[in-house]
Amino acid sequence: MHSWRRILSLLALLSSAVAVPAPSAVTSAPAASPTVPYASDDPNLPLWNENENIVPEPIRNTLGASILGPQNIPIELQNPDLFAPPSTDSGSVPNYKWPFSLSHNRLQTGGWARQQNVNAMSIATALAGVNMRLEVGAIREMHWHNDGEWAYIIQGDLRISTVTPDGQVYVGDVSQGDIWYFPAGYPHSIQAKNTTAGGAEFLLVFDSGTFSEDSTFLLTDWLAHVPKEVIAKNFQVNISAFDHIPSRELYIFPSAPPPVNVESDMVVPNDTPMPFTFAMSQVNATQASGGSYKVVDARTFPVSTTVCSAEVSVEVGGMRELHWHPTEPEWTYFISGEARITVYASSAQATTMNFQAGDIAYIPPSFGHYVENTGNSTLLFLEIFRSGLFQDISLTQWLALTPPELVKAHLGLDDATIASFSRVKQEVVGPIH
Ligand SMILES: *[C@@H]1O[C@H](CO)[C@@H](O)[C@H](O)[C@H]1NC(C)=O
Ligand SMILES: *[C@@H]1O[C@H](CO)[C@@H](O)[C@H](O)[C@H]1NC(C)=O
Ligand SMILES: *[C@@H]1O[C@H](CO)[C@@H](O)[C@H](O)[C@H]1NC(C)=O
Ligand SMILES: *[C@@H]1O[C@H](CO)[C@@H](O)[C@H](O)[C@H]1NC(C)=O
Repeated sequence: MHSWRRILSLLALLSSAVAVPAPSAVTSAPAASPTVPYASDDPNLPLWNENENIVPEPIRNTLGASILGPQNIPIELQNPDLFAPPSTDSGSVPNYKWPFSLSHNRLQTGGWARQQNVNAMSIATALAGVNMRLEVGAIREMHWHNDGEWAYIIQGDLRISTVTPDGQVYVGDVSQGDIWYFPAGYPHSIQAKNTTAGGAEFLLVFDSGTFSEDSTFLLTDWLAHVPKEVIAKNFQVNISAFDHIPSRELYIFPSAPPPVNVESDMVVPNDTPMPFTFAMSQVNATQASGGSYKVVDARTFPVSTTVCSAEVSVEVGGMRELHWHPTEPEWTYFISGEARITVYASSAQATTMNFQAGDIAYIPPSFGHYVENTGNSTLLFLEIFRSGLFQDISLTQWLALTPPELVKAHLGLDDATIASFSRVKQEVVGPIH
């Protein structure tokens, strides 16, 4: 441990040893008679970051001891708050972190796919995710599945298509930062366009935790399992027309890229009442003191009735404020930067975890949390919900709009502090000036 950390730890010890009531409690708070001791003032910062050239130790202040057994130092460097947790952590919250780097990757000619579902992270019962890559022209074969599919383009350009139960058609293009949605059971295609990015990479989120990318209904897989004469009768053509259908699924396979112009790729003009893509990249972000955010739900993208999202950008030193989502679990995907989350799970249970780009967090409904930028660059992440409507409750707004005497009676705050709380949601706050 660095010597300055030892000094910090000693200072923290010293300050807790000579614990005096917080000054605010002395000045103006009515003497709420505390029935329990005050919470500790110990600092609880992450003790290192992944770029440090140290051998981490599971020691925080007076707690812990050196490690004698084997160490996986890269993982420990990425997870300081698991290895030397804040003293505010307590109890056992189920694991809520899954790095896509730990997912089995399915490699195909033309791309790959890796997934996180409830088998990888048992807490994630309501939503599952897939990270997929398609080279220029490559196709994710025409298919459908039991669950609704929401997608966000990480890089590149794609063409998608679907046909509805009413026989309406939609063909559309999406680029980085845009989204699509296919309702459960709707057949669809996905193909990478010819772009300098060399194809595309994207995130798929499904409205069920048990979704598996390996058990979708595939065009080729179906026809390989239907008697040929039945196929011929179905399509009312000569059986020899089907001499060259594949004997098993293609899943992801290479092909020539589609025409640049989407109209020239249409059999008939699009005629669905609503589009199945949404140019989220073109939405102006709402500015906040510590960053910005975009919320896109069924109010602006009406076809997406079971999944909605917020794209959140947090500046260095900023934080997505303390909040919760009343009824919906949150499936979070980190696009860039480094983050720290503490999940509060009621009953004195809280666990802090650290996240890197490509990681997933899953936060059950009503669990209190924040997302802090703990790195040196802008933190960009997606909050995704199994709902048509984005909803959150801000702790600050709640306290600001509640009778102040009530808040005082709980927290021993003074009037000026309570009056300073923002009555409008901040969503993303900056560092304290
Ligand atoms: C992609 O576009 C470039 C530039 O127009 C072209 O040279 C190249 O042949 C195209 N690639 C494919 C696979 O069509
Ligand atoms: C189907 O096509 C084959 C090959 O062209 C031909 O020999 C056969 O007579 C056709 N059958 C029918 C029923 O038209
Ligand atoms: C976004 O902001 C720009 C610049 O202020 C403005 O021109 C544009 O109309 C806005 N777009 C939307 C969709 O509101
Ligand atoms: C931030 O930058 C400083 C100075 O380059 C470096 O010492 C530190 O490790 C960096 N922190 C993170 C979280 O990358």
